[in-house]
Amino acid sequence: MEKTKVAIVGLGTVGSGVARLLLDHGDRTARHAGRALWLEKAVVRDLARPRDCDLPDGILTDQLDEVLDNSDIKVVAQLIGGLEPARTVMLKLLESGKDVVTANKALLAEHGPELFDRARGLGRCIAFEAAVAGGIPIITNVSQCFSANQIHSIQGILNGTSNFIVSQMDELSWSYDEALAAAQALGYAEADPTMDVDGTDAAQKLAILAHLAFGARIRWSEIPRQGIDSLDSTDMQFASELGYRIKLIAHARLAAAGLELSVAPTLIRAGQPLAEVRRNYNAISVVGDAVGDIFFHGQGAGQMPTASAVVADMIDTAVGRAPITFRTLELWSSRESPVQILPDKDLPGRYYMRFQVYDKPGVMAKVTSILGDHHVSIASIIQHEPELDAGDNLVQLVIMTHEAPEGAASRAVSKIEQLDVVSGTAVRMRVMEAPRSK
Ligand code: NAP
Ligand code: HSE
Repeated sequence: MEKTKVAIVGLGTVGSGVARLLLDHGDRTARHAGRALWLEKAVVRDLARPRDCDLPDGILTDQLDEVLDNSDIKVVAQLIGGLEPARTVMLKLLESGKDVVTANKALLAEHGPELFDRARGLGRCIAFEAAVAGGIPIITNVSQCFSANQIHSIQGILNGTSNFIVSQMDELSWSYDEALAAAQALGYAEADPTMDVDGTDAAQKLAILAHLAFGARIRWSEIPRQGIDSLDSTDMQFASELGYRIKLIAHARLAAAGLELSVAPTLIRAGQPLAEVRRNYNAISVVGDAVGDIFFHGQGAGQMPTASAVVADMIDTAVGRAPITFRTLELWSSRESPVQILPDKDLPGRYYMRFQVYDKPGVMAKVTSILGDHHVSIASIIQHEPELDAGDNLVQLVIMTHEAPEGAASRAVSKIEQLDVVSGTAVRMRVMEAPRSK
C-alpha cells in the first residue's frame, strides 16, 4: 500500500492522542486515506519526559531538523501551544516543503495573515479543524458546508475549560479552584489557564469563526470579552432561581449596521440547548439564511476528541483535499473586505443585574428610578429577606431587564453604584434569547 510519511511536533496532550490514533488505528486511517499515514518522527522539547503513548524506537527526537531535512515527510501536525516557538516552527515547516496541520488557535488568531500568506506563497497548506471546538467539525462546516448561505449568527460555548468549571460549580457545588485543577489534570486547559478563564481562548476562536463566516478581519483582542474568572457562585444561585444557567458565550451576529462580537458570561434559560451543555463539551448554534438553525455539540477540549480532528486533517491533507480547500478559500488574504465591527456600547441586550443594598426604606425606588431615567425597563426583581444572623443589614437585589442598549445599561449601573444605599460594585451579565432564523 502507498505510504505518506508524517510527523508530529509537540507530543503533549493532543500530540500523544494523535500518535495513538496513527499507531494504534493505522487501519482506519489507511482505509479513509487510501494509503498508510506512517508516523516517521515525533519532535519534543524534553526527551526524558514521560509520554502518554508508546512509540516504536527511532521516532522520538528533540531535533526539529530531523523533520525539516527529511523530504519524505509530507505532512506535519504542529502541536506546540502558544506563539513562540510555535510560529517559527510553523514557518520552518512550510519553508521546508511540509503541509501543516495545527490545533493552535492562539497562533492563528495572532499570526494567521502572515502564516497563510507564507503558505500560499510557497504552495503549501495549513489545516486547522482542531483549533476551534476540539472534536466538533465547525471549521469545515462554516467554511465549506454553509458556503451557499449568508450566515446571520454564531453563538456558542467555545472553551471547554470554562464550561467544565461553571458546570461543576453549578451542578456539583465544586469550588472554582477545585474545578480548575481538575480541568488542568484532565488536559482541557491551556498551558497558561488564564487564557481559558479570562475569555482570551474563546475570543481567539470567535475571531477565527468570524473570519470564516463573515470575512471579518478582526483582531481577537478587539473583541469585547469577559471571562468566568470573576464569576461569583451567588450569581449562579440567583440564575438558577430565575430559571437560567450561566455559560461563557461567544457571540457573533450580523446586524444591519455591522457585526456584533462579544465573549461574556451569559444567562441562558434552562432547557435551551446551550444551557444544558456540560463539562468539557462545546456547542455552537449557527443560523444561515438557507440552512436555518444548526446546532453542534461535542467535546471541545480533551486529548482524543482533539486528536480526532487533527488526524482527519492529516488524512485530508495527505489525499489532497485540504490543499484544494486551502487554495480556494484564500483565508486571511487581502481579497477579503473588512466588516464593520459594532462598538460594544451599541449592542442591545437583556441584562441580569445584582446590587448589594442596605435594607432600608426607599432603596428600591432609588434604584428603579435610575433605571427608568436610562430607559432600562425591568422584567423581574428578586430581593430576599435578610439572613437572621446577618449583622450588616445588606441584602442582594437582583433585577432582570427587558432589552436595552449596552450603553444605557452600563451608565445606569454606574449611577446606581454611586448611591449611598448601595455597597460595592454591581454585577451585570447579558441574558441570551434563543437564536432566530430570518
Ligand atoms: P501540551 O500538553 O502543553 O503539549 C505541548 C507540547 O509541545 C509538549 O509536548 C512540549 O514538549 C511541546 N513543545 C513545546 N515547545 C517545543 C519545542 N520547542 N519543540 C518541540 N516541542 C515543543 O499542550 P496541548 O494541550 O497538547 O495543546 C497543544 C495545542 O493544541 C495548543 O495550541 C492548544 O491550544 C491546542 N488545543 C489543545 C486542546 C486540548 O484539549 N488540550 C484542544 C484543542 C486545541 P515537552 O513535552 O517536551 O515539554
Ligand atoms: N483550552 C481549550 C479549552 C482547549 O479548554 O477549550 C481546546 O481548544
